[in-house]
Amino acid sequence: MNDRQRPTADIGVFGGSGFYSLADGAETWEETTPWGPPSAPVTIAEFGTGTPVRVAFLPRHGTDHRFPPHRVNYRANVDAMRRLGVRALIAPFAAGSLRPEIKPGEFVVCDQLVDRTWGRPSTFYDEFADGPVHAPFADPYDPELRHVLLEAAAETGVTAHDGGTVVVVNGPRFSSRAESRWHREAGWHVVNMTQAPEAALAMEAGIPFAGIALVTDYDAGLESDPGVEPVSQEAVFAVFEANLHKVRALLQAAFPKLAALSDTDVSET
Ligand code: ADE
Repeated sequence: MNDRQRPTADIGVFGGSGFYSLADGAETWEETTPWGPPSAPVTIAEFGTGTPVRVAFLPRHGTDHRFPPHRVNYRANVDAMRRLGVRALIAPFAAGSLRPEIKPGEFVVCDQLVDRTWGRPSTFYDEFADGPVHAPFADPYDPELRHVLLEAAAETGVTAHDGGTVVVVNGPRFSSRAESRWHREAGWHVVNMTQAPEAALAMEAGIPFAGIALVTDYDAGLESDPGVEPVSQEAVFAVFEANLHKVRALLQAAFPKLAALSDTDVSET
C-alpha cells in the first residue's frame, strides 16, 4: 500500500527500465485499480530542465516479463496511467514486418490497427451502468502524437515509416506462413501481440494514444527472399535490445514536444 499521495505524470509510456535508465528523479508508485493491479509498479521519471516533463513508465509484461500478451491486465495498466493524469500515452512495441521494405531495426508510427485477438477483457464497459458507451475507433492512433513521434524520429536520425496498419494476433505463438501471407495480402504492414486491447482502452479512457512499432523480424519469412528465416523468440528479444537506444533517443526528443501539446480533457473518477 502507498502511504503517500498519488503522484502525477504528463506522459505515460508502456515500457520498462530500458526506456528510462537515463532519466532523473525516478520514483515508484504502486497503483491499484478496480481492474486489479497493473503489470508492475509505475516508475515516474523527470526529463529536461526548467519545468521537467514527468513521464510514467509501466512495463506491460511486468518487470520480469511474466505476463504473456493474452494475460496482460491491459485495463489495469491503462487505468493506472489515467489515474496518474497522463495526457498522452505512448506505446512502443516489438513487431514483425509483413513487407520487405519495412526492415528490422526500423520503426513504424502506425495509423491503423486490425484486432485479431480473442478472449481478452477489452473494454471498461462490461456493464452500461450509466447508459451506452460505444467508443469511436475509426482512428485508433492520435494524429498529433503521431506527428510528434515522426518529427522526433527525424531529429534523432531514426528511420520511421509514416503510417501503417498493425494486425494484432493473440499469441503467444507466432503466425504460420499461411496466416502471415494472409495478413500481408490483406494489405497490413506489421504484426504484434499487444496493441489490442491497449489502443481501444486508451480510447475509452479518453487518453490520446500512439503506437510505435520497433520491427524485430520478418514474421514467417519473406516470399521474395526464401533465405530469410522465420521469426524466433530469441531474434525478437535480441533485435529489440540492440535497438532500444533508438527508442530511448526518439522518446527523449519527443517528450518536451508531447508535453507542449494542448491539455486534453481526461476525466477523473
Ligand atoms: N512481435 C515481434 N515480432 C512479432 C511477430 N512476428 N509476430 C507477432 N508479434 C511479434
